[in-house]
Amino acid sequence: MTLFQPDALVLASILQIATDAVICVNDEHRIVYFNDGAAQMFGYPADEMIGAPLRNLMPAKFGDAHAGHVKRFGSGTSTSRRMAERSTIYGLRSNGEEFVAQAGISRVQTDNGPLFAVVMRDMSEQRRTEVLLEDALARAEDAIRDRDDMLSLVNHDLRNPVNAVKMLASALLRLPTSAEAADLPVVAREHANVMLQSATQMDALIQDLLDVARLERGTLRLACQTAAISPILTLAADILAPMAAEKHITLETEIEAGLPPVSVDPDRVGQVLSNLLGNALKFTPEGGSVRLRAIRTVDAVEVRVQDSGIRIKSDDLPFIFDRFWQAKRTDRSGAGLGLAIAKGIVQAHGGTIVIESVLGQGTIVRFTLPAALAN
Ligand SMILES: Nc1ncnc2c1ncn2[C@@H]1O[C@H](COP(=O)(O)OP(=O)(O)OP(=O)(O)O)[C@@H](O)[C@H]1O
Ligand SMILES: [Mg+2]
Repeated sequence: MTLFQPDALVLASILQIATDAVICVNDEHRIVYFNDGAAQMFGYPADEMIGAPLRNLMPAKFGDAHAGHVKRFGSGTSTSRRMAERSTIYGLRSNGEEFVAQAGISRVQTDNGPLFAVVMRDMSEQRRTEVLLEDALARAEDAIRDRDDMLSLVNHDLRNPVNAVKMLASALLRLPTSAEAADLPVVAREHANVMLQSATQMDALIQDLLDVARLERGTLRLACQTAAISPILTLAADILAPMAAEKHITLETEIEAGLPPVSVDPDRVGQVLSNLLGNALKFTPEGGSVRLRAIRTVDAVEVRVQDSGIRIKSDDLPFIFDRFWQAKRTDRSGAGLGLAIAKGIVQAHGGTIVIESVLGQGTIVRFTLPAALAN
């Protein structure tokens, strides 16, 4: 391809229609050339500007500073300079609006003395976007600070009294119930039971809120060890068995023989199982069934929690792992944090979690835990 060498006429046309403002001034800083881009940027027709002083295009407060730039440049040795690299340039439109611009200036020696060419780009739109972004960033930082303040309040100021209630209610419940003056009357035992249950619920919610914050901040710590998955699954099923029995739901556990050991934090995996089994039992009507299975895949153990419950609508599936999300019209007890936490914990172990829900077949949650590497 040969190099295109435009003649003077073509060059002049290109300059005329350029979107940047191109303004030439003589050594008295009077305008001798004003292209279409300049006319559009400043809102003056070109013919009105020929002969006008350059300072008409600048807010009065910057006029001297800009004129100083041009003068210094005129007497210096450099032939071109990007003014905005040194300072911010402001322009003044015909409607009185000031705008920020980036400008480059170059000097050309002509038979009639030096000519200064100023090329300006209107940066006001970009500045507006920058201001919006800075504003959004500041608000996001404020929100993060507020959240952290709130969490430390929850962690220290709420957890301690809740634990005190739990401890004292448990202590009351350890007293014998009889007609003796020092013993616990029946009605007080009932009250202490409710207090213990409520405080336990509050404590669980506080723990969930703290876990969600840790997952968001990436500060969830795992105490991983190489372990067999089977006892972790059995323990979770045993813990949830009374809840299943209460709802007359059959809870079956099926663990494939010869599963490889996994590298896991057993407490955290127990928490995932408790959240998933808890959901399965909560959203399955009386008489239904819940199945906990573990099978081997190529390089992981896959755990499945399947229920015969009310299922999740396909429209809802994309939101299911969002924190605080709950389907409309289902049992709204809980805070909508269980699945978000389960996903975070599984991912922190390097695993994946998916949910499928089919009409008439209930819901199945599958998650993987990578097999521990042999030493
Ligand atoms: N097995 C399931 N069957 C039907 N719907 C489910 C099932 N598991 C979860 N969902 C739906 O997903 C929502 C979010 O579940 P998630 O466990 O995160 O919160 P939650 O159970 O409502 O409250 P939390 O777990 O914090 O006590 C539930 O409220 C429910 O609408
Ligand atoms: Mg839940």
